[in-house]
Amino acid sequence: MTGDVSKDRALLRVLAGEVLAKPPAWIMRQAGRYLPEYRATRAKAGSFLDLCYTPDLAVEVTLQPIHRFGFDASILFSDILVVPDALGQDVWFVEGEGPRLDPLTDAAGFDRLREADDPAVFHHLGPVIETVGRLRSELPDETTLLGFCGAPWTVASYMIGGRGTPDLAPSRQLAQQDPALLRRLIDRLVDVQSRYLVAQLRAGADAVQIFESHAGVLPAGDDPLGDWSLEPISRMIRQVRAEVPDARIIVFPRGSGLEGHVRTHAETGADAVGVDWAVDLAELRTQLPSSAVTQGNLHPEILVAGGEALDRAVDAVLAATEGCPHIFNLGHGITPQTPVAHVERMLTRLRSA
Ligand code: CP3
Repeated sequence: MTGDVSKDRALLRVLAGEVLAKPPAWIMRQAGRYLPEYRATRAKAGSFLDLCYTPDLAVEVTLQPIHRFGFDASILFSDILVVPDALGQDVWFVEGEGPRLDPLTDAAGFDRLREADDPAVFHHLGPVIETVGRLRSELPDETTLLGFCGAPWTVASYMIGGRGTPDLAPSRQLAQQDPALLRRLIDRLVDVQSRYLVAQLRAGADAVQIFESHAGVLPAGDDPLGDWSLEPISRMIRQVRAEVPDARIIVFPRGSGLEGHVRTHAETGADAVGVDWAVDLAELRTQLPSSAVTQGNLHPEILVAGGEALDRAVDAVLAATEGCPHIFNLGHGITPQTPVAHVERMLTRLRSA
């Protein structure tokens, strides 16, 4: 290789703390049902999980939003629930509804899971890792490739509830009835997922994002956010960096409030905090050191609405983060009803600002 091409990746420069004249941009769920070309590939894939485990198709859909919009980052097309699937739990997706798992309710269910170092786990995830490697060689040099996984609490809550119930009653109930069992499950996920992130980074991912989508709903306790979310995440980050010392890591603590976002920056060792749409980004920036890297925050519904409200929302993100390292993104995933033209309008506003 001549020189280090990764130095030209704008998103990596921001993750290292650089302030760019225009923030690099990508959007969560950028390969998804709002894109006609995604729906076409999805229709020929069979099930959603088949799409995740077929490198040819997973590469194809990952690249679709890059070709159409030229985002600064490309996120691996997969799902946080391939990990429980690899551990041996039954996982499937119900069309139009979402994920279903055979719920893990007791110690016997836990004992059926594979160990973190069982070769069968990584045999199962092999096609995902292959997809990462192929993506890095097919993407433009300037595009950052992001890998990802779910945070242990978020993944555990699907494993226990069998689906994403709004109040996560099953996993919170287990935390009261048998906290030691929940702790063992979280620890298993820390171990298997730190290995999984290391494998993605070694295969060519430039950085990884940890999705704590359920940080807003946690069990009772003195410090539930610290105990069930931030501590396991920080352990995962330490384990990843023990293998890949310069690993760049973004943590998205959705629903954890202003304080949760500040604590994610202070306590996990993440390089950047993904900010959900419920947080006042300008207020958050006053509570973070100016060197802290933020990402996200634009409300997905404003992107659905479009028009001048969208222009104002783009401007507000830029104003809130002026002079600070920031990655432009939404405050949660793009929804299927979003018009493609609104994504174009958002990027035009951003790039001409
Ligand atoms: O961002 C990307 O473009 C990369 C792909 C990606 C998917 N899921 C594809 C997907 C990523 C990063 C995820 C993460 C994920 N998966 C999370 C964390 C982010 C978040 O949204 O909070 C969670 C909680 C899941 C679990 C999951 N997968 C749910 C709850 C659903 C159903 C909701 C829905 O939108 O249908 C999925 C399905 C899913 N994952 C789809 C996609 C594109 C839609 C399924 C389809 O195309 O049929």
